[in-house]
Amino acid sequence: MPKKCVQELRNNFNIRSRKRLLFYVYPNTMRLRNTDNHAGFLDFYLDFAKEYGKDGVIDIACGTGAVLLYLAQHGIYADGTDLSEAMCRVASEKAKREGFDLNIFPANMTEFRSNRKYSCAIIARSGFMHLLTPELQRAALLNIRENLVDGGMLTFNTFDPHPVFQAEQMNTKDTDYSLRLKYTNKEGRRERLYNAISYDPYTQIMSGNWKFETLDDNGAVIRERVRPLKMRQTYRQEMRYLLELTGYEIVNVYGGYNKESGDVSAKNVIWCVRKK
Ligand SMILES: C[S@@+](CC[C@H](N)C(=O)[O-])C[C@H]1O[C@@H](n2cnc3c(N)ncnc32)[C@H](O)[C@@H]1O
Repeated sequence: MPKKCVQELRNNFNIRSRKRLLFYVYPNTMRLRNTDNHAGFLDFYLDFAKEYGKDGVIDIACGTGAVLLYLAQHGIYADGTDLSEAMCRVASEKAKREGFDLNIFPANMTEFRSNRKYSCAIIARSGFMHLLTPELQRAALLNIRENLVDGGMLTFNTFDPHPVFQAEQMNTKDTDYSLRLKYTNKEGRRERLYNAISYDPYTQIMSGNWKFETLDDNGAVIRERVRPLKMRQTYRQEMRYLLELTGYEIVNVYGGYNKESGDVSAKNVIWCVRKK
């Protein structure tokens, strides 16, 4: 937006903060940005596993097992794998505590091998976006294909890159935090979640940090955790070609976990693809 317009808006409407200004100028975008990108994810994956998982389900990049456990609680005993040994350990312990004996193993999605094939593979909640180059994305898709039976289904998600945020993030340092969410943690303490993201348009990589603040009853910060973040943004056109080149047919593209239309630009794009 030209500088003159920005100044005019600021003067006429007394909009001082950059965030409010953006909200004024791009209300729909800012509203989108403040929603939970993963709302409804558990039931989406449960339905997907029920529909396609009759010959086995694998949760790839399973993290600490949010999806694995939900599936198990609903009678679907999926295998799980994650790059991080520590995450796999936590997921296994959680599963055992709930009485489930699940096969959870550490591996890179670009090269894992299981002792069986699956009719359904899930990469939940942006796990695919952790692959930071097109070469790694390609390697992962080819490898997952090897682990699927013929006609097996895979679902994963990407975010539609948004030029307004990209421009903003190109001018943001990975320590320029903005508040994203306020919630109550498992111990009943209020927490605030911030992130700071900077974007490199040449590599399409977003890098930054998530910061969690735990508050006491008076609202004072009593603990702070910072978690680094690196994810690659992928344009839909790129994804379509990559899927074609790695041997998948696109079955559905949704604009969210509640199966919103995928025809228009969406924050969260859910790909459902079949091994050809
Ligand atoms: C955003 S978390 C999602 C975790 C889980 N799917 C969930 O919904 O709770 C991303 C996970 O991807 C894993 N990951 C990142 N790169 C990976 C790779 N190349 N292969 C396998 N897992 C990977 C990370 O260790 C992390 O647990």
